[in-house]
Amino acid sequence: MPSKRSIEKEIESLRNEIRHHNYRYYVLNDPLVSDAEYDRLFRRLLDLEKDHPEFITTDSPTQKVGAAPQKDFKAITRETPMLSLENAMDQDEFAEWRERLIREIGEAGGVDYVCEPKVDGVAVELVFRDGVLTQGATRGDGINGEDITENIKTVRPIPLRLRGKNPPRYLSVRGEVFMDKADFERLNKQQMKTGEKVYANPRNLTAGSLKQLDPKITASRPLKFVVYGIGEVRGAGGSRSARARPGTPFSSQWEFLETVREWGLPISSYSKRCVQYKEVIAYYDDLLKKRDRLPYEIDGVVIKLNDFDSQKEAGSRARSPRWAVAWKFPPHEERTRIIGIDVQVGRTGALTPVARLEPVPVGGVTVSNATLHNEDEINKKGVLVGDWVFVRRAGDVIPEVVAPIPELRSGEERAFNMPKKCPVCGTPVVREEGEAVTRCPNLECDAQVRERIRHFASREAMDIEGLGEKLVAQLVDAGLVKNPADLYDLTVGELAPLERMAEKSAENIINAIEKSKSTTLPRLIFALGIRNVGVTVAEILAECYPTVEAVRDAPEEEIAELYGVGPVIAKEVSRFFSEKRNRTMLGRLVAAGVHYVTASGVESEQLAGEVFVFTGGLTRMSRERAESEVKKRGARTSSSVSNKTTIVVAGVKAGSKLAKAEKLGIRIIGEDEFLTLIGAS
Ligand code: IVH
Repeated sequence: MPSKRSIEKEIESLRNEIRHHNYRYYVLNDPLVSDAEYDRLFRRLLDLEKDHPEFITTDSPTQKVGAAPQKDFKAITRETPMLSLENAMDQDEFAEWRERLIREIGEAGGVDYVCEPKVDGVAVELVFRDGVLTQGATRGDGINGEDITENIKTVRPIPLRLRGKNPPRYLSVRGEVFMDKADFERLNKQQMKTGEKVYANPRNLTAGSLKQLDPKITASRPLKFVVYGIGEVRGAGGSRSARARPGTPFSSQWEFLETVREWGLPISSYSKRCVQYKEVIAYYDDLLKKRDRLPYEIDGVVIKLNDFDSQKEAGSRARSPRWAVAWKFPPHEERTRIIGIDVQVGRTGALTPVARLEPVPVGGVTVSNATLHNEDEINKKGVLVGDWVFVRRAGDVIPEVVAPIPELRSGEERAFNMPKKCPVCGTPVVREEGEAVTRCPNLECDAQVRERIRHFASREAMDIEGLGEKLVAQLVDAGLVKNPADLYDLTVGELAPLERMAEKSAENIINAIEKSKSTTLPRLIFALGIRNVGVTVAEILAECYPTVEAVRDAPEEEIAELYGVGPVIAKEVSRFFSEKRNRTMLGRLVAAGVHYVTASGVESEQLAGEVFVFTGGLTRMSRERAESEVKKRGARTSSSVSNKTTIVVAGVKAGSKLAKAEKLGIRIIGEDEFLTLIGAS
């Protein structure tokens, strides 16, 4: 039986170890151990604390699970108000802000900035006394906020105790609690399923999570946190810097951020010290470009004077400081009107209602069409022709209509009805039981023919340069091409007389078509346009079968068994090849000389037989690029770890996949080793 003393010691050392791992994970983004190892330590601590509750302390890492439900939130009042920020809507307004500042405090004070992402979450203030988290509060009106300490304690990246031997006697910091976009989507879906409240965006879900009277609910939400500002510091064991602001040991925002990070509080990894105007502009441009790829939503950049003396000189207005500004990004959502709703017919005959809009810039791109997906979506959203609506554009995704603004209706708006006949060929449309999609069943429908050819020629398929939407439409309208195989019968003589064509351009197209005959098996499979067979599935099929004919002749059940395929896709594949016209087309393609270079369509066999899984973030290469690099070398990739996986590349914040790989004894390599492997380091 171990002595009480030794148990207490083990508990304390486990806590320190776990705290250190939390710091590596949440603050440095550089975990030292796998999730499995971490869980083991955590469980050991939980067990010990359960058997010896007398040793439980409020700052133990186990105390993040949430206390008992509360009746209400107490009000708090703060002495130093939590200020808001002045907005700059474009570069001119940012330049004005800066010029004003320089007029007031001189050039010397206005050249050293800290730029930070403006994280779209909920502002909170945290108080640490003697290094222990004692209070968390909302901003409220700046002075009066709500005490949400018990909820704040459950936020994973917020430490219950600061690092280091000599924490300040009193520290208050301000920061943003937020949620990753992926977590938001997942949680919202779950809420929808269970019939609970659905939130409009990650910020609302974050706010809703922090306002729970039961901290256990907050604990179940994957909230994140970054510090961006100083509240007050007292008794910090002497100034770090000779020019420190009275009452703080820091002389600048940058020094503050670096120090709180050492104390174990997360700061944004995108924060940057920028000297001079030009660097700030470059920072803004860069972050705007990265915006959609960031895991969480940001709505702009916050630019702050770095030097605390200069901040003091610039001073503050009632609600916002003069030494900082929020330079906002163009919004992703804008208001505009639906002029009409068109119906487009796709490659598979699906009818998609598309809103024709009064053109509006959304996040820097002019949008004049937005998808409404299908009939059910329109009804669910309650969109009418003529409505004012919100339009959203997210990343490279097609713009979509979010919701109508019924308050702005004039009474002239009309309901939309899905046409009974295909708007292109006039064939009566069908909507199968249980399906949201309405389709034109006529395989010869011009729209379908056009889309099939466009798909066939597209970059990821046969990659026929110059054969774009307009030319395809011309070819189909002129009756020259009815199916992809017809492309290989085209002659310069047939192309040259077409509008906007000449002898030379016709020759170029014919050459491009000729060139496309030499392709890869996955491209060819993808190009055929089988429903549900995208690039990835095409690659899997190409790996499992040596030829396109082998795919054609494979039994449906066999395809369904393939890793990453499944019965739905298998059914589509076999249905496609069961149609005589498709088999004939394939025969004609091969007869025309379409061939693939190697069975697997790769450039080298260096990594043949390997199955890669990527987990966590790569810092020097995008995930897509890394995947394509290994595929080029003959390897396969998969999104989940199984006993077929041969190599796991573990990047920053690798999670459960890494743990699983360890359990299965799969080879694990880091980013550096990966880059060396593919010769890119
Ligand atoms: S500084 C005195 N920095 O934006 C300075 N705010 O519109 C006050 N925010 O309430 C705030 N990221 O919730 C600052 N890097 C950042 C920020 C940030 C997000 C939020 C914060 C604040 C609001 C002001």
